[in-house]
Amino acid sequence: MKSALDLFKLDGKVAMVTGGSKGIGMFYSEALADAGAYVAVADIDRKTVAETTERLNRKHPDSILGIQMDVSSRDSIREAVKKIDQRWGRLDILVNNAALFAVIQSRDTPWSIPDEEFDRVMAVNVRGIYSCTAEALALMQRNHWGRVINIASGLAFKGSARLMHYAASKGAVVTLTRSMAMDLGDKGITVNALAPGGTSSPTFVEIHGENAMRAKAMINSRCIKREELPEDLVGTMLYLASSASDFLTGQTIVVNGGDYLH
Ligand SMILES: NC(=O)c1ccc[n+]([C@@H]2O[C@H](COP(=O)([O-])OP(=O)(O)OC[C@H]3O[C@@H](n4cnc5c(N)ncnc54)[C@H](O)[C@@H]3O)[C@@H](O)[C@H]2O)c1
Repeated sequence: MKSALDLFKLDGKVAMVTGGSKGIGMFYSEALADAGAYVAVADIDRKTVAETTERLNRKHPDSILGIQMDVSSRDSIREAVKKIDQRWGRLDILVNNAALFAVIQSRDTPWSIPDEEFDRVMAVNVRGIYSCTAEALALMQRNHWGRVINIASGLAFKGSARLMHYAASKGAVVTLTRSMAMDLGDKGITVNALAPGGTSSPTFVEIHGENAMRAKAMINSRCIKREELPEDLVGTMLYLASSASDFLTGQTIVVNGGDYLH
């Protein structure tokens, strides 16, 4: 007899995590594999793709496929989807996590973002999600069941004077999620967004220092008064990836310890 916990099992499912080789994305890749899925770790960073794929394959033999790819390039996305089709012949879960975030440099004034940087943030953070989903659809629809999880940010709702282009890109992710859900609901595919609060991801900490996400004001603004960690996000991601969220679509779940109350 099936138990309610079976709703969360991902045995035999195939997942692709963009930006899945480092930072928070690496935690998503590992959690999906721990839950029983085969995982394509897709990232622009060749070195961490190799490292994470090797590490996760040791833990889950023959279950992880590393793919170096660029979400801003259609050819690169097509090639990635083709590799997944050749390896597993299906794709059930797409986590659109790749973005320009940790690497964005701080500026003294928010009014000096170069046009090229503004456009690049939009091309990766917004168009990348649209293109990856569009290219994955045919394979996802093969089994009439699919999950698209778009990673937004609390800044979509709060705004950010310091990171205007980034905050705007994440606002677009929320809207894109709603729009995609409208078309895909009848095709067995749900589309939801997960919006983390300021999280001490290893990549952000490496560039900005370990205290960057530990500011007193930031912690005190939350109902739960502590630093947010990547581990705080995986439960919600797994819920969105599983049959437990069958009737949920077009929504954004904000996981931020009760900072912005959505
Ligand atoms: N850490 C936070 O505080 C926080 C808060 C809210 C939302 N987020 C979002 O969570 C996600 C992960 O954040 P993170 O802190 O790990 O940031 P990050 O910048 O370290 O992660 C981005 C990942 O995407 C990859 N990537 C970048 N450009 C790519 C491209 N063109 N093609 C393929 N992969 C590419 C990077 O190599 C990296 O693995 C991002 O979408 C970010 O916007 C993070």
